[in-house]
Amino acid sequence: MNGLQAGVWYAIAAEHDLPKDHVYRTMLGGHELAAWRSTDGGVHVWEDRCPHRGVRFSLGEVVGDELRCQYHAWRFGKTGACTFIPAQPDLKVPRTIHAAVWPVALSAGLVWSGIEPIGAPPALPPGAVLRAIPIARPAASVAHALVKEPLAGLALVLQPLDETATIVRGIALDDDLVRADHALLALRRRLEQAA
Ligand code: FES
Repeated sequence: MNGLQAGVWYAIAAEHDLPKDHVYRTMLGGHELAAWRSTDGGVHVWEDRCPHRGVRFSLGEVVGDELRCQYHAWRFGKTGACTFIPAQPDLKVPRTIHAAVWPVALSAGLVWSGIEPIGAPPALPPGAVLRAIPIARPAASVAHALVKEPLAGLALVLQPLDETATIVRGIALDDDLVRADHALLALRRRLEQAA
């Protein structure tokens, strides 16, 4: 299914992509996801679709420990449960009104999610998390190229966006961040030109 394997953790964002009050939009294996951070620093990853009328949560707003949908301002708590419907302020919201919540883990400066991931995210060496580089190639092609020609000085993780595109995130293993960033851009050029 779109390059996604069940049981695997995938990096879907860097922790620095999720400052306070920001809802981060991304994709994983064709699934649109919204990630946000509550006031306790916890990160939440949900299907990017409000259960009311399907509006993207990533258009919404973080209000304290809740995410407020942009359209009718329904509010959802950290568990994904709807907590308040402004048009019916006295209603005890049914527990069935719930965001589709994805697993989440924080590790190595990255936010990880996946379909029923097993265990902990992969251990990565310490280093600076570089900017995400989208590449218009399937994750399998990117992985194959990296096996054939590994990039020195970098640990890499792949986020399959859908069947056609991948985000590559690098962790620089030395202080030369510019060289590491250029190496990722060169990888993108090489793979996209070869397509
Ligand atoms: S679509 Fe989200 S509250 Fe209506």
